[in-house]
Amino acid sequence: MKTIISPSILGGSFSNMEKTISELDKSKAEYIHFDVMDGDFVPNLTFGPQFISNVRSHSNKIFDVHLMVNRVQKFIDDYIKAGSDIISFHIEIEDDLKKLISKIKENNIKCGIAIKPKTPWDKIKPYLDEIDQVIVMTVEPGFGGQVFINDQVDKIKNISNYIKSKDLNVQIEIDGGINYETGKICIEAGADILVAGSFLFNQDNLTIATNNLIDELGK
Ligand code: DX5
Ligand code: ZN
Repeated sequence: MKTIISPSILGGSFSNMEKTISELDKSKAEYIHFDVMDGDFVPNLTFGPQFISNVRSHSNKIFDVHLMVNRVQKFIDDYIKAGSDIISFHIEIEDDLKKLISKIKENNIKCGIAIKPKTPWDKIKPYLDEIDQVIVMTVEPGFGGQVFINDQVDKIKNISNYIKSKDLNVQIEIDGGINYETGKICIEAGADILVAGSFLFNQDNLTIATNNLIDELGK
């Protein structure tokens, strides 16, 4: 199966998001990754559901929303209404995760669970038959532009082997420090979707950079 690239807008200027979105819309990317941060679950703040809702009318891509926030339950209706196609929250939060999964799925939105680097992979096991994707964080969540944590590759392999052994329909998304080299390593370990932020935004042309990454890894 081909690998999907999910460009993260976190690398773009928040004062000119229309430019970022239109450049990504012109690219071959199927997804756009939205990093929502609350300054509590992670030591950084970004945007909330209103922003996603505003961007929605500018793009037909699949909106891949990554919630790095503690209080998901409190705002879940807003993220659903904003036009998210996939909503992922973290396994480390204190909300009732099963309840969140049901809420998201009953609105015909795909559901993902993200797992921080220090959280053991098998914590995800009880949820795998109910969700659509796992986000394996290969950096500590909070900031773009960090270096890929190599020892997370075994976690990708373990989750991938488990999914295959149980014949589950769950995709593995990798988030953090993705470039040509690390992306290739993740695909070999079992990744289906790669989030890419700073690697794309550090190049001159976002559309071309995205297409090049897709041509190289998205086969
Ligand atoms: C980190 C975010 C990532 C990040 C990826 O907390 O979840 O999506 O923006 O950015 P790069 O590709 O720069 O690591
Ligand atoms: Zn993310």
